[in-house]
Amino acid sequence: MTAAPLVLGFETSCDETAVAVTRGFEALSNVMASQVDEHARFGGGAPGVAARAHVEAIRSLTHSALREAGVHSMDLDAVAATQGPGLAGALMVGFSYGKALAWALEVPFVGIDHMEGHLFAPRLEHADYQPPAVVLLASGGHSQIVHMRDWGSYETIGSTIDDAAGEAFDKLARFLGLGYPGGPAIDAESDGGDPTTIDFPRALADRPFDFSFSGLKTSVVTYVRRHHEAGTLPEMPDIAASIQEAIVDVLVNKTMNAVEETGVSIVAGGGGVLANRRLRERLVAACEERNLSLFLPSPALCTDNGAMIGAAASFRLGRDESTSLGAEIDSSQQLGA
Ligand code: KG4
Ligand code: ZN
Repeated sequence: MTAAPLVLGFETSCDETAVAVTRGFEALSNVMASQVDEHARFGGGAPGVAARAHVEAIRSLTHSALREAGVHSMDLDAVAATQGPGLAGALMVGFSYGKALAWALEVPFVGIDHMEGHLFAPRLEHADYQPPAVVLLASGGHSQIVHMRDWGSYETIGSTIDDAAGEAFDKLARFLGLGYPGGPAIDAESDGGDPTTIDFPRALADRPFDFSFSGLKTSVVTYVRRHHEAGTLPEMPDIAASIQEAIVDVLVNKTMNAVEETGVSIVAGGGGVLANRRLRERLVAACEERNLSLFLPSPALCTDNGAMIGAAASFRLGRDESTSLGAEIDSSQQLGA
């Protein structure tokens, strides 16, 4: 395999049908169709809807990705797709489509761990991003802190014991009537809000690297009901900013605990929640204060995308690794397991 393989990458683990063409760690195209509008009608990801929408979108997105990259399918060196974790029905669409294309084109197929994909996202924009690093991965399905000793060598040192951070944003936004997906809604609503208005709980103070967000949800619901009845409810931007601060505080503090524990000097992030403006601001400040280098993907590469799958596949191909066409999806895949 040449040093920089031309890869067609598929990501269909959840709401987005995403397809990209990458050469090595460079994205030549990165297109997606979001099902957010359809899910908004259900107030969240509905598995049956996800699978059908992926089937409808994937063929024309593949053509767009190739056209935008200016390459022909015959030029591809490999095809890659997310193998897991994610929604089984959704994963199966991209994984099967990718395997079929690889078979037809007679090129290697690479199944990629979705979370490893997120670990490679910063590399698409920063050639100098190198392990060892501590990486905060926070999305709708996962919240974990990974010690990346080297490319391909990952240890999860902390994770959520209940809801993921993105899930907390989504559930709370729905409760407050702010819409779906909740992260961007709370992020926008927080503009001009005072994050010190309400001191929501920061859970699991005794566990330095783990998260828990279900208590926050209960606390917000109780607070809003009580103050709504009493007519003492603060303005919505103040409530949103206070919720956001409670989540961000915990994410930043535990990431910094992991930095201290591992002694690394590089911090990175991935997953949709890392698109959050307040989280990015706080991570920049925390890293500046400690003289750490921070590598955050731009917001469009924080959320699920095909380019990160292509980049991770480049790494795997560089180690002469590929995946059998007989392989199946693994919806419960664990990073580093
Ligand atoms: O990585 P991602 O696109 O998909 C999953 O693998 O889950 O992450 C989606 C999650 C959703 O929960 C969404 O609310 C959250 O990321 N998110 C945000 C922001 N943008 C997306 N959370 C907070 N602030 C944002 N700006
Ligand atoms: Zn993701």
